[in-house]
Parts: sequence; structure tokens; C-alpha cells
Amino acid sequence: MPIAKISPSLLSGDFGILAAECKRMVSHGADWLHMDVMDGHFVPNITIGAPVISCLSKHLNAFLDCHMMVSHPEKWVDDFAKAGASLYCFHIEATENASALIDKIHAAGMKAGVAVKPKTPISTVMDLGDKMDMCLVMTVEPGFGGQRFMAECMPKVRELRARFPDLDIEVDGGIALENIDAAAEAGANVIVAGTSIFKASDISGTIETFRTKVNTEQALLAKK
Ligand code: DX5
Ligand code: ZN
Repeated sequence: MPIAKISPSLLSGDFGILAAECKRMVSHGADWLHMDVMDGHFVPNITIGAPVISCLSKHLNAFLDCHMMVSHPEKWVDDFAKAGASLYCFHIEATENASALIDKIHAAGMKAGVAVKPKTPISTVMDLGDKMDMCLVMTVEPGFGGQRFMAECMPKVRELRARFPDLDIEVDGGIALENIDAAAEAGANVIVAGTSIFKASDISGTIETFRTKVNTEQALLAKK
């Protein structure tokens, strides 16, 4: 049974003190740290690259969940592996040969994730289910934090979970206490949240609530 992993999105953190923000999230109970990598082509925004991941991994002993919103994901695999990335999650829309890219990521020593944008059908990744380590079902259009959660993406999570009971399924975008039930019930177990965690008055409590909801639903799903 996949267990809950809570991965705060550092996009909502203070980039001037990024390592301290990462440590703060770990101290509040974060399992993974979600690093949003944007190249200005795949999405209309630019964030960070391998040099920043490399600096962070020197200061931290944490699982770095790298969400690659970039046009040529093949290009950066080796740099990110060297930098200390733990998971390299590319977008299915950005590559011609997802299967070969997963092999390249594994050969570089990282876990491989495959992300789908809200309008991309889940059928595009179904044949990778036994090969990828994680599937990221986006619940906003990638590019910016602070957007509204798209509940209409939940049937994709449900379909994936029905077919792959042990797969890590991540949801990302607009996740908050008001909609965690929908994501957990559909079968997501890796929860990314930026705004709702960084703006929470009780960060540890918010992370624990996400965890409890996910683990409760996963236990129910396992019984079905
Ligand atoms: C959006 C990013 C998300 C974003 C989530 O393109 O992939 O990781 O930071 O932030 P919230 O939780 O604020 O939607
Ligand atoms: Zn993300």
C-alpha cells in the first residue's frame, strides 16, 4: 500500500533563504521537498536549475522531488543527478520518447516521475505504469503557485490508482485543507502543496492532516 508523502512546494517559500526554508519544512514533518524547475519555454516562468539544487543538497539530507517544467527534459538529467536530485519528474508533453528518458533517469541513479498537465489524457502514460516510479497528475496549469485546484482532474487519479495499486501518485496545484479529501479519495498519496502549507498558521498540523487523510483513504482502497 503506498503511504503518504507530503512534499511542500518551495515555490511558495522565501528564495532568499531557500536552504533554511527547506529545513523549516522538514522540521514541520515534510517527507519530500518539491522543487519547481521552470525554463521559460515549457511554462511562462523561470525558476531554478541544477546549480541551486546542488547548493541545497550540500546543506540538506532530504529527498529532493524535482518537478521539471522544461522543454527538453533529456538535457538536464545528468546535471540534476550530479546536483543531488532524488526524483526527476518530467512532463509527458515535453518528450518524444518517455520510455527511453525513464531509462536515462534510472541509469543516472534517480527515481523517475512522469507528469501530465490538466488537459493531457491519462491514457498517454498508462503504458509507463510499470516503469515509472511516480506519476504526477497536475491539478492546475503548471507555471505558478496560488491557483485554484481543478477537481475535474480527479478521474485521472482514480483511473491510475485502479490500474496501479502500488504506484506513487502525486497531485500538485491548489491542494488545501478544503480539497485534500477529493485528492485522497481518488487515490493520490504524494501531496504537493505550496500556498496552503507556507501560509498555514499551523504548518505541522496541516502536514499531519494531509498525511492522515491520505493514509486513511489508502487503507480503505487496499481493502476494496
Ligand atoms: C505549479 C507548481 C506547483 C505550485 C504549487 O506550476 O508545479 O508545485 O508551486 O503551489 P500551490 O500549492 O500554491 O498551488
Ligand atoms: Zn510542481
